[in-house]
Amino acid sequence: MSKTLFDRLGGHSGITEIVDAVVEAHMHNPPIKARFLPYKEQPEKLAIIRKRTVEFFSAGSGASVFYSGKDMVNTHKGMNISPAEYIYTVDDILKVLDERNIDAASKAEVLAILWSLKEMIIGQ
Ligand code: HEM
Repeated sequence: MSKTLFDRLGGHSGITEIVDAVVEAHMHNPPIKARFLPYKEQPEKLAIIRKRTVEFFSAGSGASVFYSGKDMVNTHKGMNISPAEYIYTVDDILKVLDERNIDAASKAEVLAILWSLKEMIIGQ
């Protein structure tokens, strides 16, 4: 049997490292960093968001993990995220996958998942 996307991303530890690297990248990415920097001052909140984001990507990539967070529309409600901001976050994610030498097919699968969520995240 072929490996699940979850396995190809490195399982729980791999996805946790990916989420940490992506959050760090967002905090250094000029057009979007203002959205994320405030969480540096709220480490407990950041820890919860990090845990939920790991659950989200684990459940979405084939692991039997319960996602304890909100749906994508409610998570991003009131933020009025622009299409450009959405692309910057996707850029950060794909760059981190590149840095970790995730194979091209797995990267394309992640991109397709992110793309499917686009309308739930932009403009809420
Ligand atoms: C690319 C697709 C995206 C996905 C899959 C995604 C996913 C998530 C997830 C799973 C959470 C945690 C939800 C929870 O704690 O219940 C979250 C939180 C958050 N996202 Fe996104 N997100 C995306 C794009 C964006 C963009 C483009 C921005 C802004 C530039 C953004 C800003 C935030 C912020 C600020 C939070 C924290 C919300 C809070 O305070 O609880 N996200 N996102």
